[in-house]
Amino acid sequence: MSVTEPTVDRVAAAADGGNVLRYSAVPAGAVEDSILYLEGVSVSFDGFKALNSLNLIIDRGEMRSIIGPNGAGKTTMMDVVTGNTRPDEGRVLFGNNIDLTILDEAAIANLGIGRKFQKPTVFESLSVFENLDLALKADRGTFKTLFARLTGEQADRIDRVLETIRLAERRHDSAGALSHGQKQWLEIGMLLAQEPDLMLLDEPVAGMTDAETEQTVALLHEIARDHSLIVVEHDMEFVRNLDCQVSVLHEGRVIAEGAMDVIQSDPRVIEVYLGR
Ligand SMILES: Nc1ncnc2c1ncn2[C@@H]1O[C@H](COP(=O)(O)OP(=O)(O)OP(=O)(O)O)[C@@H](O)[C@H]1O
Ligand SMILES: [Mg+2]
Repeated sequence: MSVTEPTVDRVAAAADGGNVLRYSAVPAGAVEDSILYLEGVSVSFDGFKALNSLNLIIDRGEMRSIIGPNGAGKTTMMDVVTGNTRPDEGRVLFGNNIDLTILDEAAIANLGIGRKFQKPTVFESLSVFENLDLALKADRGTFKTLFARLTGEQADRIDRVLETIRLAERRHDSAGALSHGQKQWLEIGMLLAQEPDLMLLDEPVAGMTDAETEQTVALLHEIARDHSLIVVEHDMEFVRNLDCQVSVLHEGRVIAEGAMDVIQSDPRVIEVYLGR
């Protein structure tokens, strides 16, 4: 799988009041540390461009937040990365040189890209532990070891995940008995059990209580120590507390990128999203 070197990098150019980043061509090699590289990615649904020449670069080890109005293309971007949707054009590279546009969902999951969808999908009738056990043994899509006993190393991994997702005390309870927020954490734990390098989280705090949302900030900071993360959210207080770089999507492309306080004072961002 050989792919030519990327030729576009983020280049800040003062525009629209100085806060909006523009993209322009720079020599190859400038994105050596990217875990995810999208260049000129377009997706059309019946002529409507859900993604419109989208450029997005996530550094290895980075946590990035993606915000933007309904229909901006945030979920579609994740669909493209995970192989659920094929782009009409553009480049989608994982770890600098793996072309994701020619791989199917299972192969992409196997590479180490884990995704949490907007709606939590845990097995309600199984216990918290059993959900994690299943996720771990399913190991990125293959169910061949499903009936094998846990190795000591796997059991330790589940213990660590239970601590991270704050559900160690609930390990024997059925997942159906958890609060909505705890189900979201369990699903994040099911991703963690598979040890992905890059995690995509679509609206992880939707429907959570304020206390759960606050705890999710701490939880994601812990996870971010050894994973790259992309977090899509509409909860601006939550995004601010994540304290990471923010990309603003609008009509299928990035219109601004930077720290939250820069983003929040960007006139264009206020116009299309924050001001409404
Ligand atoms: N499978 C599909 N078929 C047709 N149109 C689609 C499909 N998936 C997405 N779209 C359209 O593409 C646009 C982008 O949708 P997307 O779900 O990516 O937005 P979003 O930024 O995730 O929005 P939200 O914040 O509401 O979740 C929307 O107009 C949506 O209706
Ligand atoms: Mg969405």
